[in-house]
Amino acid sequence: MRVLVIGGGGREHAIAWRIAKSTKVTNIFIAPGNAGTVDDEKIVNIDLGSDYNINGLLKFAMEENIDLTIVGPEKFLVEGIVDFFKLKGLSIVGPTKLAARLEGSKNFSKSFMLRNSIPTSNFKSFSSAIEAKKYIKNQSFPLVIKADGLASGKGVTIVHSLADGNFAIEDYLEKKRFGSSSASIVIEEFVAGREVSFIALTDGKTIFPFPTCQDHKRLLDNDQGPNTGGMGAYSPVAFVDQQLYERIIEEVIKPTIDGMKNEGSPYTGFLYAGLMISSNDEITVLEYNCRLGDPEAQVLMMKMNGDFFELLKLTSNESLRKFNSYENFWDSHASLGVVVAAGGYPENPELGKKIEISPDLHINDNQLQLFHAGTDLKDGVLKTSGGRVLCVTVLESNVFMAREKVYLGLKKVHFERMQYRQDIGENIENKKNN
Ligand code: GLY
Repeated sequence: MRVLVIGGGGREHAIAWRIAKSTKVTNIFIAPGNAGTVDDEKIVNIDLGSDYNINGLLKFAMEENIDLTIVGPEKFLVEGIVDFFKLKGLSIVGPTKLAARLEGSKNFSKSFMLRNSIPTSNFKSFSSAIEAKKYIKNQSFPLVIKADGLASGKGVTIVHSLADGNFAIEDYLEKKRFGSSSASIVIEEFVAGREVSFIALTDGKTIFPFPTCQDHKRLLDNDQGPNTGGMGAYSPVAFVDQQLYERIIEEVIKPTIDGMKNEGSPYTGFLYAGLMISSNDEITVLEYNCRLGDPEAQVLMMKMNGDFFELLKLTSNESLRKFNSYENFWDSHASLGVVVAAGGYPENPELGKKIEISPDLHINDNQLQLFHAGTDLKDGVLKTSGGRVLCVTVLESNVFMAREKVYLGLKKVHFERMQYRQDIGENIENKKNN
């Protein structure tokens, strides 16, 4: 079978690496991939240049007789790549353009949750800065201000005062900080608690839930500094016990899939619910994403033993109910990954820095993987080419051992002004069972 993976980040490296293990897969094309994806003999990087768009990808998939396409980044899903591929009879995993509004429009997703009694915080949406400023005058702080559209994980600001709120409203709505993505905003109540990323795969009928993950979105230790795409993750999350796990499926995942079906835009593909869990285990949905998370994908792919290709192929054929290889599909070990970012990330990442990886970093399929993201190999020299550069990911008996191994591994990676958090997975609860 011939597979196309779209994207070039750590998530896509991990997806391609895992799919390559399927005996059913002969070739994986990854567009554009990165300097790490070429290490597997089944994987070929595809540079479509200015044709790296839906039409170019569709043409490639048809010419190369691709049997299954996996979409990494949300942008293509929100633009409707699944609709175009399906019209041509091609197999692809992901939601249609209408269904991808769950991620593509915060106003849509919040209103959808309200209509379908899915737990989320109170909110209002605005496209007028005057109206938004008038509204926050009578609200209590902190408040959360979100760009309506896609903003690479950076379109969320928590404001603690009226002055901060007014500044953010001007920044988003008047200065259009995120272009058309912040032509309207959502203002919502701040919810305190512990964050969990809950990801499930669905063909619109059957649900295949993944183990829980916890991401660390802020740039600096102790959740300080600006929001990023994610600086490190681990799985499983010990405070989500079996009962809470099942409640998340019943209270969030199932009603989301049922609600989308009832509203005429059935949801298929990865459904990622960003959740906040309160001290008394109340669940609040912060947001939806319509794809695998990054770096959640890296830790999940390490934990996966089963045939990912088979699971995805059944999903794209709307026959996920036929999947029956559950036993040992997930490794019982814990996985943890720490992202190494370029200096200046997230605002102005420094590109073109030479990356040195010590040969005694023992990259090993089962225990330690170095997933590449913003890397480029030119004339035999590995250089940074993006904000998030690498993700050192380890599978170990528990999160604490995985963490120790990751941080030892990180000492063997070097480039000028590299930055990474020192506290990924440090403050987890229930240490014994993790
Ligand atoms: N790690 C967060 C995300 O993928 O959106």
